Amino acid sequence: MKKPWAGRFKGKTSKAVEGFTSSVSFDARLWRYDIEGSIAHAKMLGRQGIIPQRDATLIIKALEEIKEEIEAGKFRFLEGLEDVHMNIEHALIRKVGPIGGMLHTARSRNDQIALDLRLYLRDEIKGIVRLLRSLQRVIVHMAEENIDTIMPGYTHLQRAQPVLLSHHLLAYYEMFERDVERLGDCLKRVNVLPLGSAALAGTSLPVDRGYVAELLGFSAVSENSIDAVSDRDFVIEFLSASSVLMVHLSRLSEEFILWNSAEFGFIELPDAFSTGSSIMPQKKNPDVFELIRGKAGRVFGSLMTLLSMMKALPLAYNRDMQEDKEPLFDAVDTIRSCLSVLNEVMPAVRFKKEAMRRAAEDGFSTATDLAEYLVRKGMPFRDAHRLVGRVVRYCIDRGRSLPDLGIRELRRFSGLFDEDVFHLLSAEGSVNSRSSKGGTSRAEVLKRIKTLKTRLKRI
Ligand code: ARG
Repeated sequence: MKKPWAGRFKGKTSKAVEGFTSSVSFDARLWRYDIEGSIAHAKMLGRQGIIPQRDATLIIKALEEIKEEIEAGKFRFLEGLEDVHMNIEHALIRKVGPIGGMLHTARSRNDQIALDLRLYLRDEIKGIVRLLRSLQRVIVHMAEENIDTIMPGYTHLQRAQPVLLSHHLLAYYEMFERDVERLGDCLKRVNVLPLGSAALAGTSLPVDRGYVAELLGFSAVSENSIDAVSDRDFVIEFLSASSVLMVHLSRLSEEFILWNSAEFGFIELPDAFSTGSSIMPQKKNPDVFELIRGKAGRVFGSLMTLLSMMKALPLAYNRDMQEDKEPLFDAVDTIRSCLSVLNEVMPAVRFKKEAMRRAAEDGFSTATDLAEYLVRKGMPFRDAHRLVGRVVRYCIDRGRSLPDLGIRELRRFSGLFDEDVFHLLSAEGSVNSRSSKGGTSRAEVLKRIKTLKTRLKRI
């Protein structure tokens, strides 16, 4: 089989080099985009009269056939043909003869691969955003169902202040919202047509790049041919947005792992989404969440691969850049699988409301409420903080808790305490008093849920 670039060569490629340089084992996954791009390119070549219109028509028809063959699993990608581009071009020439060789007019594999990758990533970003949107829906639904569940909010993994479980869950909604925004922003820079840059300098043939962009739904045409074939910053951007997303997923997973432990006992995982131990019969493990937590590392790894691969590469195209694909594909697959499984598991998690509430009432999680009470009575916050600290110390020494102190005992610390203080020392009272915008009070959280529900209906 002759390689399309064999002209200037006398000798044959060594088998070792052929295997080493070939990328078709992984870039074959871009076939659909490669064909879509080629069809648009052929249309433009015909329309501009760069190749005869009837040859363009034949080429397009043959490309459609190749597409059907690949879809039907009847196409064999050959390693010796190096990459997805040459495999498809080779099949085209076999179908239509030498006129198939016209397709590569005014283009190079350098702008072709940049095009394929942009078309691929554009689709994947949209798919990931859809999965994120459905996870957001799941979260809002969970928040609504659990609006009366109170849990301890934590800092330093120590009980800090009572919060609504809904409020805690909705924190993830906000993180995912920013993830969607970051991906959407990245998409703007992905959605630029590089084709027509040819190898690096552009082409002497009268191409119409605007027409190709229109056919392929790009919102812009690249401005500099050297830049268009040599940068992969759009991949790096996608991988960094993806890494942030994985940070969020790993935090959510870690919390569910903790909550599922006997030490917390806040949730019960459904059997369908847990696994057992081969030696310890009693075990029911949160493997799904552990795997998500672990897979975050793979996505960060992809980002690091791209950054180090691109660093200090001289312009324009270098073969190093072929190394962008596997990490990108791996990151896309990882993110998709994590989001899909979360969309299934999350609605099936059962919250042990009583245990959460008990934990929220235990300890001194309403100490801040006590201090803010004194502030409302005119005491400077620093003094109130110190005074309540002494009350807490008093309780610790006697094995007591704040809500079971009597008014006479409290008055020994300050005359400002009245009967109305007890209402604040309950978990509900504490939660509902936090009605500042974005706070955890029931009213505030319900307001947010309502807004989010209408927003999600519109998108
Ligand atoms: N397989 C190559 C890549 O992934 C395609 C471009 C190859 N260009 C070249 N001149 N060797 O980057």
